[in-house]
Amino acid sequence: MKRILVTGGAGFIGSNFIHYLLSHFQTVECLVNLDLLTYAGNLENLQTVEKDPRYHLVQGDIRDKVLVGKLFVEYRFDTVVHFAAESHVDRSIVEPEIFLTTNIIGTQTLLDAAISCWKLEPDNKYSREYRADVKYLQVSTDEVYGALGKIGMFTENTPLAPNSPYSASKASADMVVRAYHMTYGIPVNITRCSNNYGPYQFPEKLIPLMIHNAQQDKPLPVYGDGMQIRDWLHVRDHCAAICTVLEKGHAGEIYNIGGNNEKANLEIIRLILSELGKPESLIQYVQDRPGHDRRYAIDNAKIVAELGWTPVYTFEQGIRETIRWYLQHSDWVSRITSGEYQNYYRKMYSAAKV
Ligand code: NAD
Ligand code: TYD
Repeated sequence: MKRILVTGGAGFIGSNFIHYLLSHFQTVECLVNLDLLTYAGNLENLQTVEKDPRYHLVQGDIRDKVLVGKLFVEYRFDTVVHFAAESHVDRSIVEPEIFLTTNIIGTQTLLDAAISCWKLEPDNKYSREYRADVKYLQVSTDEVYGALGKIGMFTENTPLAPNSPYSASKASADMVVRAYHMTYGIPVNITRCSNNYGPYQFPEKLIPLMIHNAQQDKPLPVYGDGMQIRDWLHVRDHCAAICTVLEKGHAGEIYNIGGNNEKANLEIIRLILSELGKPESLIQYVQDRPGHDRRYAIDNAKIVAELGWTPVYTFEQGIRETIRWYLQHSDWVSRITSGEYQNYYRKMYSAAKV
């Protein structure tokens, strides 16, 4: 029976993961969701699991050492799945500091607490023995590898070359996780996934933003020439991959997770417009994102060959289901796009017109 700490479980991937874990695994005895509930955290995403006796919400900050230490003692976690982060590249360009504190210091705080609870001799700096049932999993991103040209793919051995404050903070956190494994011997895995899509994604990210704007006949802001490429992964395939790494991943290893779905942004935007029956005249080219990575593509051969995971969603099926989900959950979208979102949108896009 597992006792799991999920951080950032009220966000997009974290909430999908909690649904996935509680519905697929009877071996979960206790799941604590530690989430600060920033603008990106939404408890509505978790309404259907709130009454599950295994599920506990703690509103708090991963940088709060005292709180994190207390939770480890109280709930006796054997597994940490660390999603909590500031996650939006555009916000990191405007306000980098919170990305560095949340994404780097937050990671260190969790690792320190895990070590002091999981190490068999916590006061012995030379001891590298841990309880046999523990694991810390760092959810990272392919963006730590930087940008690709027209050919090639990211493997786990590609050198890190982050280009945005967001990706630099994630790469730094990965380095901290690696160093803690090398120095203290804590059993860790790092997963690096490509762009996720699916239900419950905050509409500041490409796919939900474009669906929302198209539905409202608002302009669809395309950065630069719109020919940047992302390698799309359905969020449920990502959740399944994380569970596979938790079960079978070898300590200290990094696993890339990708959906083998490279698409140019414009291709996706056109597909959304056509699915919604909206005209392409809604496309509005705006100034490019500074430091915009041209192409990401994940080579997932390692996780496929060594752990036996494969994605099950085709992009065609996944994107249609996703568009339908947003149309059927327009109340969910309306609630989060009223208020503060309007200020965000004005600030982000008013200066970007070309
Ligand atoms: P998200 O922005 O939707 O959710 C982040 C969650 O973290 C929110 O619930 C927020 O309230 C919480 N949070 C933020 N700061 C916190 C703090 N200090 N303490 C506690 N909780 C805090 O993010 P997401 O898209 O679900 O991404 C989850 C993870 O996956 C992140 O680590 C991100 O870097 C990584 N990732 C995401 C994608 C993607 O396509 N979305 C791709 C690759 C990697
Ligand atoms: P995003 O969803 O922000 O993810 P990431 O930057 O982490 O890949 O953006 C995906 C792609 O879509 C990226 O190339 C930037 C582009 N994009 C736009 O063209 N317009 C937009 O309004 C947004 C939010 C993104």
